[in-house]
Amino acid sequence: MAKRVAILISGGGSNMEALVRAMQQKDYPARPVLVLANTPEAAGLARARRLGVAMAVVDHRDFSGARHAFEAALEAALQTAAPDILCLAGFMRILTPAFTARWQGRVLNIHPSLLPRYQGLNTHARALAAGDTEAGCTVHQVTAALDDGPILGQARVPILPGDNAETLAARVLEQEHRLYPAVLGRFAQGDRRPVFLP
Ligand code: GAR
Repeated sequence: MAKRVAILISGGGSNMEALVRAMQQKDYPARPVLVLANTPEAAGLARARRLGVAMAVVDHRDFSGARHAFEAALEAALQTAAPDILCLAGFMRILTPAFTARWQGRVLNIHPSLLPRYQGLNTHARALAAGDTEAGCTVHQVTAALDDGPILGQARVPILPGDNAETLAARVLEQEHRLYPAVLGRFAQGDRRPVFLP
């Protein structure tokens, strides 16, 4: 039985689209049941509409810093969709330990660096400032610690002379779109071995 997947977004939703398009292929072991955004301004909502996926918005600003109330509303929005797996795809809210404990082992995230390097924000600028010769992205399981759960997959890209944070981000994003569907497909079948894409 295909696993039911909810995708949580905050922004453009290009990773969400890559996941949905993969899930819409025949024989993929998961299917999209909900795209959930934490702001009605998320551009990814228009993409989800075009892709024909159910959508919900839980605006974090309605909860003025009350994270548990925000997460209770997230849970309520998730309940009808009854997902087996949550995929964070550019979801820029930090989840509480209570939430991650409830969903332990069922939440994936994509992060634009080769973890454990550069947890947090501004990953590409930090890789450039450090003089790194390669960058990349990581899909990992979400635990209570930010950007720190077991690694399920990575893809690497070279850092080229003349790169800036924008050019590097664009090159990494292309790899994100390959990596996340590859990892989700394995994960949905119960395979937790990491995937390392060339
Ligand atoms: C992606 O690069 C993703 O890795 C990053 O946000 C972007 C979202 O793009 N996520 C994080 O930085 C999480 N800490 P998208 O909305 O087009 O998928």
